[in-house]
Amino acid sequence: MTLSIRLARAQDAPLLPAVEHSAAQVFACHPGLQWIAEGSVISCAEHLAFIASNQEWVVVDLQDQPQGFICTEAMGHNLHIVELSVAQAYQGLGYGRQLIAAVCDWAGTQGFNALTLTTFTDVPWNAPFYARLGFRRLADADLDGALAQLLEVEVAEHSSARCAMSLDLD
Ligand SMILES: CC(C)(COP(=O)(O)OP(=O)(O)OC[C@H]1O[C@@H](n2cnc3c(N)ncnc32)[C@H](O)[C@@H]1OP(=O)(O)O)[C@@H](O)C(=O)NCCC(=O)NCCS
Repeated sequence: MTLSIRLARAQDAPLLPAVEHSAAQVFACHPGLQWIAEGSVISCAEHLAFIASNQEWVVVDLQDQPQGFICTEAMGHNLHIVELSVAQAYQGLGYGRQLIAAVCDWAGTQGFNALTLTTFTDVPWNAPFYARLGFRRLADADLDGALAQLLEVEVAEHSSARCAMSLDLD
């Protein structure tokens, strides 16, 4: 089955919280992180804000229904990936990689220096996956203000097993 990627539209927004909830079920079997499977997700209103600023892409099925998304925001000269989710039934088919590639291509045309994100260090589909795509883990000394602040909040709220990563775009 071939899905395609396009910019998200306002009518996608009400469907995206369920996509993220479905995606999060992959954590249900991961020791210590089962809470994510029932955790909070990005709201419809928040998706609408990403969509209004052309900062969200979706992977859609043949009925044009979103089955995955990636949303981003500018963070200084870098483009930060806020969330990447692919619905459970479509995981492991390469759509996560394709969503990142789409953002990578767009960010390059917009003159951003790098893609950044925060993620779990020890979850197979998080940091190790991004490392295989060329992202490198940032040391505390390499973190700029906004990214440092975000990581600090995530470590305090969730887990010390969080890290920031970056992919140079030049
Ligand atoms: C992360 C996520 C978006 C990847 O989407 P996907 O469509 O499954 O990704 P792909 O099929 O492109 O595969 C990505 C890589 O993750 C690996 N992977 C995916 N699911 C996996 C699983 N359950 N266990 C182990 N590895 C897994 C694949 O082997 C692949 O690695 P490779 O291409 O280097 O071999 C998806 O797993 C998801 O939505 N997870 C829940 C939300 C999440 O963790 N988001 C990332 C936040 S930083």
